[in-house]
Amino acid sequence: MSSIPDIIIAVDGYSSTGKSTFAKLIAKEFTFLYLDSGAMYRGVTLAGMEAGVIGDGKIDEEGLRKIIGPLPLHFRQEEGATRLYLGERCIETEIRGWAVSQYVSPVSAIPWVRNWVDDRLHAFSEGGRVIMDGRDIGTTVFPNAELKIFMTADPAVRAQRRYDELVAKGESTTLEEVLANLQDRDYRDSHRPTSPLRQADDAYVLDNTHMTLHEEVVWMLGLLQGKFGLLESPGLSC
Ligand code: DC
Repeated sequence: MSSIPDIIIAVDGYSSTGKSTFAKLIAKEFTFLYLDSGAMYRGVTLAGMEAGVIGDGKIDEEGLRKIIGPLPLHFRQEEGATRLYLGERCIETEIRGWAVSQYVSPVSAIPWVRNWVDDRLHAFSEGGRVIMDGRDIGTTVFPNAELKIFMTADPAVRAQRRYDELVAKGESTTLEEVLANLQDRDYRDSHRPTSPLRQADDAYVLDNTHMTLHEEVVWMLGLLQGKFGLLESPGLSC
Protein backbone atom coordinates (compact mmCIF):
# COMPACT_ATOMS: atom_id res chain seq x y z
CA MET A 1 0.00 0.00 0.00
CA SER A 2 1.19 3.52 -0.68
CA SER A 3 -0.24 7.01 -0.52
CA ILE A 4 0.01 9.92 -2.91
CA PRO A 5 3.11 12.00 -2.15
CA ASP A 6 3.08 15.82 -1.95
CA ILE A 7 3.05 16.49 -5.67
CA ILE A 8 1.76 19.21 -7.96
CA ILE A 9 -1.04 18.17 -10.28
CA ALA A 10 -1.51 20.44 -13.30
CA VAL A 11 -4.92 20.40 -15.01
CA ASP A 12 -5.06 22.29 -18.31
CA GLY A 13 -7.53 22.36 -21.14
CA TYR A 14 -10.13 24.23 -23.14
CA SER A 15 -12.70 26.47 -21.46
CA SER A 16 -15.82 24.85 -20.04
CA THR A 17 -14.40 21.34 -20.05
CA GLY A 18 -15.15 21.11 -16.33
CA LYS A 19 -11.53 21.54 -15.22
CA SER A 20 -12.40 23.29 -11.98
CA THR A 21 -15.22 20.91 -11.05
CA PHE A 22 -12.89 17.98 -11.69
CA ALA A 23 -9.91 19.54 -9.89
CA LYS A 24 -12.02 20.54 -6.85
CA LEU A 25 -13.34 17.01 -6.53
CA ILE A 26 -9.88 15.47 -6.85
CA ALA A 27 -8.65 17.93 -4.21
CA LYS A 28 -11.40 16.77 -1.86
CA GLU A 29 -10.99 13.04 -2.54
CA PHE A 30 -7.21 12.99 -2.24
CA THR A 31 -6.62 15.96 0.13
CA PHE A 32 -4.94 18.51 -2.12
CA LEU A 33 -5.10 22.31 -2.04
CA TYR A 34 -7.12 23.44 -5.04
CA LEU A 35 -6.04 26.61 -6.86
CA ASP A 36 -7.90 28.04 -9.87
CA SER A 37 -5.46 30.08 -11.97
CA GLY A 38 -8.25 31.35 -14.27
CA ALA A 39 -9.84 32.97 -11.21
CA MET A 40 -6.74 35.16 -10.89
CA TYR A 41 -7.11 36.42 -14.48
CA ARG A 42 -10.80 36.97 -13.82
CA GLY A 43 -9.96 38.86 -10.60
CA VAL A 44 -7.54 41.15 -12.44
CA THR A 45 -10.23 41.75 -15.09
CA LEU A 46 -12.90 42.57 -12.50
CA ALA A 47 -10.56 44.94 -10.68
CA GLY A 48 -9.78 46.68 -13.99
CA MET A 49 -13.48 47.03 -14.77
CA GLU A 50 -14.22 48.46 -11.35
CA ALA A 51 -11.32 50.92 -11.69
CA GLY A 52 -12.71 52.05 -15.06
CA VAL A 53 -9.66 50.95 -17.07
CA ILE A 54 -11.51 48.05 -18.75
CA GLY A 55 -14.87 48.62 -20.44
CA ASP A 56 -16.67 49.77 -23.60
CA GLY A 57 -14.82 47.08 -25.54
CA LYS A 58 -11.41 48.52 -24.58
CA ILE A 59 -8.54 47.71 -22.23
CA ASP A 60 -6.41 50.64 -21.09
CA GLU A 61 -3.16 48.73 -20.54
CA GLU A 62 -1.34 51.61 -18.89
CA GLY A 63 -4.25 52.16 -16.51
CA LEU A 64 -4.32 48.45 -15.71
CA ARG A 65 -0.58 48.42 -15.09
CA LYS A 66 -1.01 51.18 -12.50
CA ILE A 67 -3.57 49.27 -10.45
CA ILE A 68 -2.14 45.74 -10.73
CA GLY A 69 1.02 46.19 -8.61
CA PRO A 70 -0.60 46.47 -5.21
CA LEU A 71 -3.78 44.56 -6.11
CA PRO A 72 -4.73 42.57 -2.97
CA LEU A 73 -5.93 39.43 -4.81
CA HIS A 74 -5.56 36.26 -2.79
CA PHE A 75 -7.14 32.87 -2.13
CA ARG A 76 -8.70 31.86 1.16
CA GLN A 77 -9.66 28.39 2.30
CA GLU A 78 -13.17 28.47 3.71
CA GLU A 79 -15.56 25.62 4.50
CA GLY A 80 -13.44 23.23 2.45
CA ALA A 81 -13.47 25.52 -0.61
CA THR A 82 -10.86 27.86 -2.09
CA ARG A 83 -12.28 31.33 -2.70
CA LEU A 84 -10.79 34.38 -4.38
CA TYR A 85 -10.74 37.63 -2.43
CA LEU A 86 -10.00 41.19 -3.44
CA GLY A 87 -8.91 42.64 -0.12
CA GLU A 88 -11.65 41.66 2.32
CA ARG A 89 -14.27 41.06 -0.38
CA CYS A 90 -15.05 37.59 -1.72
CA ILE A 91 -15.39 38.01 -5.49
CA GLU A 92 -16.11 34.40 -6.48
CA THR A 93 -19.58 35.18 -7.86
CA GLU A 94 -18.70 38.40 -9.72
CA ILE A 95 -15.67 36.95 -11.50
CA ARG A 96 -17.82 34.15 -13.03
CA GLY A 97 -20.31 36.56 -14.61
CA TRP A 98 -20.79 37.25 -18.28
CA ALA A 99 -19.26 40.76 -18.15
CA VAL A 100 -15.89 39.51 -16.88
CA SER A 101 -15.94 36.60 -19.38
CA GLN A 102 -16.09 39.11 -22.24
CA TYR A 103 -12.74 40.68 -21.35
CA VAL A 104 -10.76 38.01 -19.53
CA SER A 105 -9.17 36.39 -22.59
CA PRO A 106 -7.49 39.57 -23.92
CA VAL A 107 -6.48 40.54 -20.37
CA SER A 108 -4.86 37.12 -19.88
CA ALA A 109 -2.93 37.55 -23.14
CA ILE A 110 -0.97 40.55 -21.77
CA PRO A 111 2.54 39.22 -20.94
CA TRP A 112 3.10 41.32 -17.81
CA VAL A 113 -0.32 40.30 -16.46
CA ARG A 114 0.76 36.66 -16.94
CA ASN A 115 4.04 37.24 -15.10
CA TRP A 116 2.20 38.94 -12.24
CA VAL A 117 -0.28 36.04 -11.95
CA ASP A 118 2.47 33.37 -12.27
CA ASP A 119 4.45 34.92 -9.40
CA ARG A 120 1.40 34.76 -7.17
CA LEU A 121 0.54 31.21 -8.20
CA HIS A 122 4.06 30.10 -7.25
CA ALA A 123 3.76 31.84 -3.88
CA PHE A 124 0.32 30.33 -3.16
CA SER A 125 1.64 26.83 -4.03
CA GLU A 126 4.63 26.86 -1.74
CA GLY A 127 4.89 23.54 0.07
CA GLY A 128 3.33 21.52 -2.77
CA ARG A 129 0.36 19.13 -2.59
CA VAL A 130 -1.58 21.38 -4.91
CA ILE A 131 -3.91 20.73 -7.79
CA MET A 132 -4.13 23.78 -10.05
CA ASP A 133 -6.22 24.24 -13.15
CA GLY A 134 -5.71 26.63 -16.06
CA ARG A 135 -4.30 26.79 -19.58
CA ASP A 136 -0.54 26.76 -19.13
CA ILE A 137 0.04 25.13 -15.75
CA GLY A 138 1.79 22.03 -17.10
CA THR A 139 3.65 23.94 -19.82
CA THR A 140 4.70 27.23 -18.18
CA VAL A 141 3.70 27.70 -14.53
CA PHE A 142 4.77 24.25 -13.31
CA PRO A 143 6.58 22.55 -16.21
CA ASN A 144 7.97 20.01 -13.71
CA ALA A 145 4.58 19.11 -12.22
CA GLU A 146 4.61 15.41 -11.36
CA LEU A 147 1.22 14.78 -12.95
CA LYS A 148 -0.32 16.66 -15.88
CA ILE A 149 -3.87 16.28 -17.16
CA PHE A 150 -5.16 17.86 -20.37
CA MET A 151 -8.95 18.15 -20.55
CA THR A 152 -11.02 18.40 -23.68
CA ALA A 153 -14.64 17.82 -24.81
CA ASP A 154 -16.84 18.44 -27.83
CA PRO A 155 -17.48 22.25 -28.18
CA ALA A 156 -21.26 21.78 -28.50
CA VAL A 157 -21.34 19.80 -25.25
CA ARG A 158 -19.15 22.38 -23.52
CA ALA A 159 -21.37 25.27 -24.71
CA GLN A 160 -24.51 23.53 -23.46
CA ARG A 161 -22.95 22.96 -20.02
CA ARG A 162 -21.83 26.58 -19.75
CA TYR A 163 -25.20 27.87 -20.99
CA ASP A 164 -27.05 25.80 -18.37
CA GLU A 165 -24.74 27.20 -15.66
CA LEU A 166 -25.31 30.81 -16.76
CA VAL A 167 -29.08 30.36 -17.01
CA ALA A 168 -29.14 28.79 -13.53
CA LYS A 169 -27.37 31.94 -12.29
CA GLY A 170 -30.06 34.10 -13.89
CA GLU A 171 -27.85 35.50 -16.69
CA SER A 172 -29.61 36.23 -19.97
CA THR A 173 -27.74 34.89 -22.98
CA THR A 174 -28.29 32.42 -25.81
CA LEU A 175 -26.68 29.08 -26.58
CA GLU A 176 -25.32 30.55 -29.84
CA GLU A 177 -23.71 33.45 -27.97
CA VAL A 178 -22.15 31.10 -25.43
CA LEU A 179 -20.78 28.82 -28.18
CA ALA A 180 -19.35 31.82 -30.05
CA ASN A 181 -17.69 33.16 -26.86
CA LEU A 182 -16.26 29.73 -26.08
CA GLN A 183 -14.86 29.23 -29.60
CA ASP A 184 -13.44 32.75 -29.54
CA ARG A 185 -11.72 32.04 -26.19
CA ASP A 186 -10.40 28.66 -27.42
CA TYR A 187 -8.90 30.40 -30.43
CA ARG A 188 -7.41 33.29 -28.47
CA ASP A 189 -6.09 31.02 -25.71
CA SER A 190 -4.37 28.70 -28.20
CA HIS A 191 -3.01 31.40 -30.53
CA ARG A 192 -1.67 34.08 -28.20
CA PRO A 193 2.11 34.54 -28.39
CA THR A 194 2.70 34.23 -24.61
CA SER A 195 2.04 30.84 -23.02
CA PRO A 196 -0.61 29.63 -25.47
CA LEU A 197 -2.89 26.80 -24.44
CA ARG A 198 -1.35 23.55 -25.62
CA GLN A 199 -1.12 20.00 -24.42
CA ALA A 200 2.17 19.28 -22.62
CA ASP A 201 4.01 16.33 -24.19
CA ASP A 202 3.79 14.39 -20.92
CA ALA A 203 0.12 15.17 -20.18
CA TYR A 204 -2.60 12.54 -19.92
CA VAL A 205 -5.64 13.45 -22.02
CA LEU A 206 -9.08 13.37 -20.44
CA ASP A 207 -11.88 13.75 -23.01
CA ASN A 208 -15.05 13.95 -20.94
CA THR A 209 -17.60 14.47 -23.77
CA HIS A 210 -19.36 11.25 -22.79
CA MET A 211 -18.22 10.90 -19.20
CA THR A 212 -19.92 11.53 -15.88
CA LEU A 213 -18.02 13.23 -13.08
CA HIS A 214 -17.85 9.92 -11.23
CA GLU A 215 -16.24 8.28 -14.28
CA GLU A 216 -13.67 11.09 -14.41
CA VAL A 217 -12.72 10.53 -10.77
CA VAL A 218 -12.48 6.76 -11.34
CA TRP A 219 -10.22 7.50 -14.36
CA MET A 220 -8.01 9.65 -12.11
CA LEU A 221 -7.91 6.99 -9.42
CA GLY A 222 -6.66 4.51 -12.04
CA LEU A 223 -3.99 6.97 -13.11
CA LEU A 224 -2.85 7.62 -9.54
CA GLN A 225 -2.78 3.89 -8.78
CA GLY A 226 -0.72 3.29 -11.89
CA LYS A 227 1.77 5.93 -10.83
CA PHE A 228 1.90 5.50 -7.05
CA GLY A 229 0.76 1.92 -6.49
CA LEU A 230 -2.34 0.81 -4.67
CA LEU A 231 -3.59 3.74 -2.62
CA GLU A 232 -4.26 3.50 1.10
CA SER A 233 -7.90 4.56 0.91
CA PRO A 234 -9.16 4.17 -2.64
CA GLY A 235 -12.81 4.48 -1.46
CA LEU A 236 -14.45 7.42 -3.25
CA SER A 237 -17.14 9.57 -1.72
CA CYS A 238 -18.56 10.73 -5.04
O1 DC B 1 -10.71 28.86 -16.79
P1 DC B 1 -11.37 30.23 -16.94
O2 DC B 1 -12.42 30.27 -18.02
O3 DC B 1 -11.89 30.73 -15.64
O4 DC B 1 -10.19 31.19 -17.40
C1 DC B 1 -10.43 32.54 -17.65
C2 DC B 1 -9.52 33.04 -18.76
O5 DC B 1 -8.18 33.09 -18.28
C3 DC B 1 -9.53 32.23 -20.03
O6 DC B 1 -9.84 33.06 -21.13
C4 DC B 1 -8.13 31.73 -20.19
C5 DC B 1 -7.31 32.49 -19.20
N1 DC B 1 -6.37 31.64 -18.49
C6 DC B 1 -5.08 31.61 -18.94
O7 DC B 1 -4.76 32.25 -19.94
N2 DC B 1 -4.14 30.88 -18.29
C7 DC B 1 -4.48 30.17 -17.21
N3 DC B 1 -3.54 29.47 -16.57
C8 DC B 1 -5.81 30.17 -16.74
C9 DC B 1 -6.75 30.90 -17.42
